[in-house]
Amino acid sequence: MDRRKIIIDTDPGQDDAAAIMMAFAHPEKLEILGLCAVAGNVPLSFTSRNLRIVCELCGRPDAAVYEGALKPLNRPQVTAEHVHGRTGLDGVELPEPVMAAQAKHAVDFIIDTLRSEPAGTVTLCTLGPLTNIALALTKAPDIAGRARELVMMGGGFFEGGNITPAAEFNIYVDPEAAKIVFASGMPIVMMPLDVTHQLLTTKARVAKIAALGARPAQVLVDWLAFFERFDIEKYGSDGGPLHDPSVIAYLLKPELFSGRDCNVEIETESELTVGMTVVDWWHVTERPRNVKVMRDVDADGFFDLLAESVARL
Ligand code: BDR
Ligand code: CA
Repeated sequence: MDRRKIIIDTDPGQDDAAAIMMAFAHPEKLEILGLCAVAGNVPLSFTSRNLRIVCELCGRPDAAVYEGALKPLNRPQVTAEHVHGRTGLDGVELPEPVMAAQAKHAVDFIIDTLRSEPAGTVTLCTLGPLTNIALALTKAPDIAGRARELVMMGGGFFEGGNITPAAEFNIYVDPEAAKIVFASGMPIVMMPLDVTHQLLTTKARVAKIAALGARPAQVLVDWLAFFERFDIEKYGSDGGPLHDPSVIAYLLKPELFSGRDCNVEIETESELTVGMTVVDWWHVTERPRNVKVMRDVDADGFFDLLAESVARL
């Protein structure tokens, strides 16, 4: 496998943290050019702080963290403290980060990186609302043709939504941004709720991570315990769905996932279904197939990869 250059755009979030840990664990496969914070699960001041906490936990205070959009393109901010806690990373007490964010804005970092790296070599990994990417595409439309692909956690179709009956949180928070990204022509791989609802943090799977013993593993177990309490109540399952690491797992082991190329459009008008990802799974329209939509995952293989990754930190 070639070493992929990636930019992670994120709103940590305990499941974002798990994804970032997985990415830092494989430096021979993933070169992280930078990590961008966006407002999402909690306001930007917290997502930036949390991102830096995760970098330090992974022993990477040298990583480049950029701060991006403070709010969605043209809607009031919606956050998810009811899932992630007041700070977005509730579940364990950790020291405030020492490392600072870079002075450059995340949107400029994304544009400059896509323009300066050879075309087709940088993968955008998005774990939160798509505001930063949409702003970058609006300011510099040429970057759509320069990314290798954009792999995102967002949307849902057969499973419906998790913040409204029709919409998944990351798309719902900034549907106008999602619309810009999905219409950009950038090759997109989408990890919807249809995949992530299969990735349950069951007691047996979390016990394997706990058995690793080291500090990053313990912190992750505490984060997962906090994060899943809401979902266990909501879905009545053994464990909650672990969404965002699916993006990084796809880069490391794409064979764990299966899906198909479809047209996906974003609803931005309807009060009832705003933020819905309308997937033409059965190809009943002639609309262009703009997204590789994943639908199934080898969940045990995914959790083995997560445990192997955390063991490497
Ligand atoms: C997504 O929303 C956030 O709460 C999670 O971090 C994940 O990115 C799941 O709908
Ligand atoms: Ca997230």
